[in-house]
Amino acid sequence: MKGILLAGGSGTRLLPLTQTLSKQLLPVYNKPLIYYPLSTLMLAGIREILIISTPRDLPMIERLLGDGSQIGLSLHYAVQEKPNGIAEAFTIGADFLQGEPVCLVLGDNIFHSHELPHLLARATNRKEGASVLACRVSNPSAYGVVELDATGKPIRLVEKPAKPASNWAVTGLYFYDGQVHDIARSLRPSQRGELEITDINQIYLERGQLNIEFMGRGAAWFDAGTFDSLLGASQYVHMLEVRQGLMIGLPEEIAWRMNYISTDDVRATAKAMRNNPLGNYLLGLLDEPRAHA
Ligand code: TTP
Repeated sequence: MKGILLAGGSGTRLLPLTQTLSKQLLPVYNKPLIYYPLSTLMLAGIREILIISTPRDLPMIERLLGDGSQIGLSLHYAVQEKPNGIAEAFTIGADFLQGEPVCLVLGDNIFHSHELPHLLARATNRKEGASVLACRVSNPSAYGVVELDATGKPIRLVEKPAKPASNWAVTGLYFYDGQVHDIARSLRPSQRGELEITDINQIYLERGQLNIEFMGRGAAWFDAGTFDSLLGASQYVHMLEVRQGLMIGLPEEIAWRMNYISTDDVRATAKAMRNNPLGNYLLGLLDEPRAHA
């Protein structure tokens, strides 16, 4: 399965922070926001990834992540000329995807939970249909919401409902089989002029092929697109990292634990980050068994 990390958009809710800088490059405590969705794709075992962003921001993102070889990935880059909607990712990425199954993550979405690798494995191993991650939220009206029948099967998806039928919000992490390419080509812009990801999910739902992976109690999901959620995400990462002494969303650590890079590779990266908490952390990891945590 290939991955797409969609990191464009206009970031109007974060102006003036985004006046000159991509939302995805803003800090979430000690890392750029984009590290977190990149880590999610890595935890799903996805190594071939297309990063899509604006003409203004793509060069900076490429400067940060390069070709990905330093973290055992193959990273590719493509421009989205205008924020024409999330579902445009599949047409922009058509040459890269070559009709294959794909996992799409939004560049401002942060996921953290001990069960995440498990959910990701279930979604990537599913051969047919689509899977989306849903998270329980207290303010469902702000999101796309899944309406469920008594058995927990999805019956409807509603964007920002005034009267939500459930507290389950659809997050920005989607897995699709090869059907997504034809579906994406058939889409027309919505009333707000965007190619909507919800329309793709709706088609899978109508075909009886939309699976919902529910993030359980204690799971954290942030869509860091507002001042409060960006700060909330920073506070969350800070609190957990300080308490546990384990970092969230550090691609070098994940690459090492997944055996994509060697201990010597990590040592070299850490040495280049001397006198830095991330560098010291990476060096400290090397004394522990890889598989842990
Ligand atoms: P949004 O948060 O919906 O939009 P935005 O980033 O433009 O922000 P704002 O509403 O404040 O203007 O986008 C969700 C994610 O998807 C975000 O990481 C940006 C990305 N995105 C694109 O890359 N291209 C698009 O066309 C859209 C709509 C979103």
